[in-house]
Amino acid sequence: MATFYASKTGEVSAREKEHSALVRELAGECMTLLENDGTLPLAGAGKVAVYGNGVRHTVKGGTGSGDVNTRTVVTIEQGLKEAGFEILTGKWLDEYDKVLADAQAAYQAELAKKAEELHVPIFAVMFSEVFAQPDVPVITEKEDTDTAIYVLSRNSGEGADRYNRACDYLLGENELADIAYLAEHYEKTVLILNIANLVDTTELKKIKGLNAILLAGQAGNATGNIVADVVLGKSIPSGKLTDTWAASYEDYPSSKNFSHNNGDTNDEYYSDGIYVGYRYFDTFNVTPNYCFGYGKGYTDFETEVRDVEADAKNVTVTASVKNIGDTFAGKEVVQVYYSAPDGTIEKPYQELGGFGKSDLLSPGESQTITISFPTRSMASYDEKKAAWVLEAGTYYIRVGNSSRTTKVAAALNLKETVVTVQGKNLFPADDAPQELSKAGVTPYSYEGEAEEKAAAKQIDICSKCIKTETVVYSETPEAFPAYEGEKLTAADVKSGKATLKDLVSQLTVEEMAAVCNGTADGLGQEGFIGSSSDMAPGAAGDTTSILLEDRGIYNTILADGPAGLRLIPHFVVDADGKMVSSGNPLEDAFNKNEIEVPEGGTEYFQYCTAIPVAALLAQSWNMDLIRKCGDIVGKEMEEFHISVWLAPGMNIHRNPLCGRNFEYYSEDPLVAGMCAAADTRGIQSHAGIGTSIKHFAANNQEDNRMYVNEHISERAMREIYLKGFEIAVKTAQPMTIMSSYNLVNGVHTANSHDLLTAAARDEWGFAGYVMTDWGTSEDMSGLFAYKYNLKYGHSTSRECVLAGNDLQMPGQQGNRQEIVASVADGTLPIGQLQTCAYRILNVVLQSLAYDDCKPYGDQFELEEAVTVTKA
Ligand code: BGC
Repeated sequence: MATFYASKTGEVSAREKEHSALVRELAGECMTLLENDGTLPLAGAGKVAVYGNGVRHTVKGGTGSGDVNTRTVVTIEQGLKEAGFEILTGKWLDEYDKVLADAQAAYQAELAKKAEELHVPIFAVMFSEVFAQPDVPVITEKEDTDTAIYVLSRNSGEGADRYNRACDYLLGENELADIAYLAEHYEKTVLILNIANLVDTTELKKIKGLNAILLAGQAGNATGNIVADVVLGKSIPSGKLTDTWAASYEDYPSSKNFSHNNGDTNDEYYSDGIYVGYRYFDTFNVTPNYCFGYGKGYTDFETEVRDVEADAKNVTVTASVKNIGDTFAGKEVVQVYYSAPDGTIEKPYQELGGFGKSDLLSPGESQTITISFPTRSMASYDEKKAAWVLEAGTYYIRVGNSSRTTKVAAALNLKETVVTVQGKNLFPADDAPQELSKAGVTPYSYEGEAEEKAAAKQIDICSKCIKTETVVYSETPEAFPAYEGEKLTAADVKSGKATLKDLVSQLTVEEMAAVCNGTADGLGQEGFIGSSSDMAPGAAGDTTSILLEDRGIYNTILADGPAGLRLIPHFVVDADGKMVSSGNPLEDAFNKNEIEVPEGGTEYFQYCTAIPVAALLAQSWNMDLIRKCGDIVGKEMEEFHISVWLAPGMNIHRNPLCGRNFEYYSEDPLVAGMCAAADTRGIQSHAGIGTSIKHFAANNQEDNRMYVNEHISERAMREIYLKGFEIAVKTAQPMTIMSSYNLVNGVHTANSHDLLTAAARDEWGFAGYVMTDWGTSEDMSGLFAYKYNLKYGHSTSRECVLAGNDLQMPGQQGNRQEIVASVADGTLPIGQLQTCAYRILNVVLQSLAYDDCKPYGDQFELEEAVTVTKA
């Protein structure tokens, strides 16, 4: 009989209330004011004309596995009403409801038709054929108020990329006309962007009379309340962009070839190299609409650099920030960038080295912030040397409150080139992309930059004092020495009677093959997302329980994120504890169907909190805030007995059309790495639970996501696409890593020993286990062949084990059989299989399945990427 940790009452719990209130308190800070002429915050609630597709259909987070099934979502309409606003535009909103309902009905019918024609399940079609939002009705009448609010929403998710077209990246014709109408007819017009990925702002900027633009993002199930709080100034927005908002989509250097744009979704050539985001816009002097790091608040700040110190170990900037406004409080972010000297390898104009956010400062109040980061973190990757190097020359330290408002604060002089880490190249090109070069290009500059450089404090850094670390790469592991004697159990390992290696040495190949696979078919349930565990329905999967009876090794549950914990909110079991379905298990997973409780049956509830999506959390630039959100999820994991959170996602925002950007933090690897580390620290401060940083690595395209080959140079891989993962591993030791679906330079990441073992373990010291993304090592081509002209195959189970991709999820019989057969035919060394099994069980034994578990993160000596102190 299954054990459920769900609640038997559907009442709103104290924990739900507490977590909602906490998110409401925290999330306003993440919101970013793009424009404001003083209209926001509004002086009070009153009559308001509210329009836009996001008023009633507010998006709390994206679609797919990144969506959290919550009890309710407070829409912006509800939030404004609860805050006391009288909404005058019910008629228009009703009209839009109808437009939307008709479009959705047509979409559903089209999906069903297509699925039938193609003989594929409807969810497969649903993943790749996304709903195209209809344009909105035209506004023709002015309402009796001076205030108008327009809410623009966009949604996207896994399995499909967005399009550079109207009602998607671009605004719809009617959307633009409506906003212009409001700007013309109302004294105050506020645009709220309920989006977690970028939209074009060039047409918006042309509209005269638009008083404020608030990038509210997608803030979870309390979004409507949080937006109302910010609009009324009860919550102060102090977000800063973590992406560059270009003047035109074509300005992004990856746009021409990205995903479906060039008709080829099989091969993606990263010709932009290291020039992603502001690294490109600054180096190639392309002016964006809103630069990286930009954001207004309700007040203004003055930032003054007090001092810069630097030596072979650290660069330390001390700055004071002062609220120079006279009405509102606010928080300011001090951003420190460095410009490394060109040597044998070219460098971007500047790169973020560290940042720190002030506390909430009242008008007139100031604070001193000290930001320190390791000198060696300014190193670049030199492919010829196969090493990280600090090239000789001058490193300019720049300080500001956005990437385009920095001032030179110091010049660090390094006489000789230093190798900081000597490793080996791991990602040889299969078909090398032609990379951009800045040769002959004049970078962005500003008046007075040359004078600032000349006048900057000069600091000599001792080259000899920077030591070279040399990586020792691991060899194929030997077979574990056999432990002769009685059958060992988890209790024996925990008591110290024997080691885990001893126990693993006793396992049969079949048992280890089971350990190295999840249980999608083991529990007699369907292997689709949201069904695999019988302890926490809706979890994405679990590790095997075949060693439970004999050895006391429990199965552990893995559930999705990153915007909260993704479970089925409501389910019913019969008298035998078997789940009762409404007949449509997919619908059940989303809590859409009423299910009758049979005689002797029980109804269960698992209501979780939706926190802001990653893209919004990052905009807070507040690592403490992100850690607190991790803590919220951690408490819910404890409640529902989830050991591993399949989050945070931390791929780089390479192009704004990537369907999953909302699940990821930024175009900048330092921001991504620090946010993922903060989230992980929040989770792993709870006993026996941990994160799975994903999708490792370069999962930057959703169209044909399982079979796309990303062609990336070694340098771009390391400096842009791996750097964040490296930071997260070194500073937070996530319990697990999830490899990605895609290939990198011809190798599936799940089969890449160089990525999973040489980089993550040997170079960075990753100590947990690696799992696949769902279905990577199975043939899923049947689901996608109708849409894509598939060129590449899937990863194999044998190579997963060889690569150090320990766990295959959700795990099918075929995966286990392949492992067993490979050991038998000598193509899979037993020591390698034992090592993978060992790494999984090592985490399992530390999980909350055991009462003696401790916070997983406590056992490691963690580094800091950036240290911030405030006085
Ligand atoms: C997604 C992962 C997710 C997994 C399990 C996959 O489709 O890519 O991010 O964790 O499903 O739900």
